Amino acid sequence: MLVLGLETSCDETGVALYDSECGLLADALFSQIDLHRVYGGVVPELASRDHVKRMLPLLREVLEQAGRKPEDIDGIAYTAGPGLVGALLVGASCAQALAFAWGVPALGVHHMEGHLLAPMLEEQPPGFPFVALLVSGGHTQLVRVDGIGRYQLLGESVDDAAGEAFDKTAKLIGLGYPGGPEIARLAQSGTPGRFTFPRPMTDRPGLDFSFSGLKTFALNTWQQCRNAGDDGEQTRCDIALAFEQAVVETLTIKCKRALKQTGLNRLVIAGGVSANQSLRQSLGKMLGDLKGDVFYARPRFCTDNGAMIAYAGCQRLLAGQHDGPAIAVQARWPMERLPAI
Ligand code: KG4
Ligand code: ZN
Repeated sequence: MLVLGLETSCDETGVALYDSECGLLADALFSQIDLHRVYGGVVPELASRDHVKRMLPLLREVLEQAGRKPEDIDGIAYTAGPGLVGALLVGASCAQALAFAWGVPALGVHHMEGHLLAPMLEEQPPGFPFVALLVSGGHTQLVRVDGIGRYQLLGESVDDAAGEAFDKTAKLIGLGYPGGPEIARLAQSGTPGRFTFPRPMTDRPGLDFSFSGLKTFALNTWQQCRNAGDDGEQTRCDIALAFEQAVVETLTIKCKRALKQTGLNRLVIAGGVSANQSLRQSLGKMLGDLKGDVFYARPRFCTDNGAMIAYAGCQRLLAGQHDGPAIAVQARWPMERLPAI
């Protein structure tokens, strides 16, 4: 089965072709980062309008890359939520219009399920069951995964998502958008031990997270340094390192707890923050000590992309699931509501 995947939930237009027999055939992405950078974050209306502009050129690009024609496509998967409603509607409308024109089924995919399954596109995919740490700009969740659509939420952030904390902290210390890669880059030149940030909610039982206090801690640290006339590049690097270490250690402690609680030793990390090298190293070491394995997607498939939507959609379309012709998207959509396959 050849499936076209469309991702438009936020500021990336992603289009891909996934074949159930041959794997990923083509993948194209347009990132709107330059469009939003001047505003320091995503402007929803600009995002929607840009998705409209990019969709068809990217579709032509993947068909050409794969050497396939529209009539070869057996189904269309699109991100139906969670995300920005206007942006989601662009993908949903395109998907439904193309499905109607081509006489194939369309299926709305849950964006976080797409992220969760992205490591399945790699050479050594994880087997079920596993614990998944979903860390994106909008979500921080620990989930027990027993199969596709068999998700049990173990814990989640009570305030900011991990990626959101990276983005907001970066902005507060004068770095560009998106903040995650910027903080990771500066942290490489940070002085270990100059600042120590708290590890929120690790001193009490449970698997929930709270990241909003870390950005305040970063702001206070930055302001104290500025008042002392110490607001140079090195101070930014030192704050970036302390912040990154706090997030990484907090996530590692909670993942270890989740593995212990479930008795599993396979961990999948997915979403934009799973591209972070320190996080990968820290979790790799923790799983090494537990004689387990950690799985993640290549960096390009950690952040938003069409390939993960094509893959997730293909699994569900193969199981006979599809939508009616209505164009419906959901800004909020708990993943546990998805049907199992
Ligand atoms: O999954 P994603 O592309 O979009 C959402 O579904 O939200 O995640 C984007 C988030 C942003 O907050 C970005 O700052 C963060 O992922 N991110 C990173 C890194 N690369 C992207 N955070 C930390 N380290 C990175 N290397
Ligand atoms: Zn995402």
